[in-house]
Amino acid sequence: MLEIKTVSKNFGGLAAVSDVSFSVKEGEVVGLIGPNGAGKTTMLNLICGIYKADSGSISFDGTDITKMDSAKICKLGISRTYQIPQPFESMTALAGVLVGVLNGKNRPNMSLPDAALEASYYLEFVGLFAKRDTLARDLNLYELRMLELARALATTPKLLLLDEVMAGLNPTESSWALDMIWSAQEQFAISILWIEHVMKIIMNATQRVVVLQYGKKIAEGPPKEVTSDPKIIEAYLGARYAQH
Ligand SMILES: Nc1ncnc2c1ncn2[C@@H]1O[C@H](COP(=O)(O)OP(=O)(O)OP(=O)(O)O)[C@@H](O)[C@H]1O
Ligand SMILES: [Mg+2]
Repeated sequence: MLEIKTVSKNFGGLAAVSDVSFSVKEGEVVGLIGPNGAGKTTMLNLICGIYKADSGSISFDGTDITKMDSAKICKLGISRTYQIPQPFESMTALAGVLVGVLNGKNRPNMSLPDAALEASYYLEFVGLFAKRDTLARDLNLYELRMLELARALATTPKLLLLDEVMAGLNPTESSWALDMIWSAQEQFAISILWIEHVMKIIMNATQRVVVLQYGKKIAEGPPKEVTSDPKIIEAYLGARYAQH
């Protein structure tokens, strides 16, 4: 469903993403890993239209989205969470998810009461219904990440892009978040492209892994194969990964 072909993106003289190709098929959960600065977040920003590729092409369900703006891409069915949560700080949790509902796929002319009901459903799904009237700025990190997930799911995506959902969460919160993402994948039949540094999660939750380093794709394959290659663990991912 997602086809990335020889995509490059430079910032000044820096090749943040360089000639990268890979795909995500319907129903698949694909991990995107690599050391800090490898170009993972940039890749996500290229897919959802926040950045435009300098060269190469990205297509989604057969539609060329390389130059499409992000609102349109969202309506086609691609949604994402941010590495650093980006809530609408002075909005309540419910209003934040409402924005997702109203900007989502197949939502022409939905009335506000219906949209609010829909938003409540997604808040409930991630376990935040009790916090519906809390301002986003008063939520803790776990709650913010769940709010991001609810907002992303509320757009009814076919493809969900996750950028380090687990970062900064304690082990209990991480396992809650993991359960949540699994049930979301099951219940809403979504495909996921998942950036995560926690190798245990990549190993358990993904079917295929794409490894970036210095903007280039250096490996791709089943997580066990890719992550057990000592050359990749040491040379590309560093000791931090080998320990997990
Ligand atoms: N808007 C930008 N302007 C200039 N340089 C950028 C911009 N966004 C990213 N970069 C640079 O591009 C490179 C790739 O960054 P990116 O954020 O994609 O890495 P990452 O793999 O997500 O890293 P991390 O694991 O730390 O999140 C880095 O060198 C970064 O400094
Ligand atoms: Mg990043």
